[in-house]
Amino acid sequence: MKDGKIPNPNTIHPIPGYNKEIYVKPTIKNPNIIVGDFTYIADSDFESHVTHHYEWNGDKLIIGKFCQIAAGVEFVMNGANHQMNAVSTFPFYTLEGWNMNPPAVSDLPLKGDTVIGNDVWIGQNAVILPGVHIGDGAIIGANSVVGSDVEPYSIVVGNPAKLLRKRFDDELISLMLQFKWWDKSSEEIDSLIPILTCSDLDKVREELKKRI
Ligand SMILES: CC(C)(COP(=O)(O)OP(=O)(O)OC[C@H]1O[C@@H](n2cnc3c(N)ncnc32)[C@H](O)[C@@H]1OP(=O)(O)O)[C@@H](O)C(=O)NCCC(=O)NCCS
Repeated sequence: MKDGKIPNPNTIHPIPGYNKEIYVKPTIKNPNIIVGDFTYIADSDFESHVTHHYEWNGDKLIIGKFCQIAAGVEFVMNGANHQMNAVSTFPFYTLEGWNMNPPAVSDLPLKGDTVIGNDVWIGQNAVILPGVHIGDGAIIGANSVVGSDVEPYSIVVGNPAKLLRKRFDDELISLMLQFKWWDKSSEEIDSLIPILTCSDLDKVREELKKRI
């Protein structure tokens, strides 16, 4: 470990003297937001990036470990989706004075939990819509609007976000999904950094095969 310092997932500010980048997990107060170790956001606050997240819908935002979340990213939760199977989408029941009870849950377009894998890089100002699942190692381009699921180790861009390309061939993706480096101890991850950051992918492939 560098300079005798051990990476600590419970540190809020992992860059000494810089407040605009935080490890998210130790800052979470909402029990319906679950975030893994070492996932960071380029901001001084995370929960304001999660919108329309109402307790009564019970939806969860689940994010894995080692994700990199850029500034301006928004996770839109199910409370954002108005009833659409009637002639008006106006949410009378939420506003003072209007004579309407909340619609039955079955009348709301609820999409379930939002689930982000591990080592996912989410580019600046990307919007993640309710119920989307994003696989391990995916990359979300800047300003993308992600409305459908994203396969592991793929790059999606645009509005609606579409596949730009897979990051690696199927064999290497499969090896990475078996290897799950993010679940190893900090000491082991530290020793794996030369492999995790090596651009010679054939060498990486061989190293992974030896270790799985
Ligand atoms: C997604 C991304 C990683 C792709 O990088 P890349 O593989 O080098 O892609 P390229 O620049 O070669 O672009 C390939 C094509 O995708 C398009 N494209 C790239 N990023 C795009 C985006 N965010 N939205 C829409 N289209 C995008 C390019 O215009 C190009 O289109 P073309 O083939 O029609 O010319 C990068 O463009 C991006 O969005 N990075 C996020 C940066 C960021 O937000 N960082 C936050 C701070 S950490």
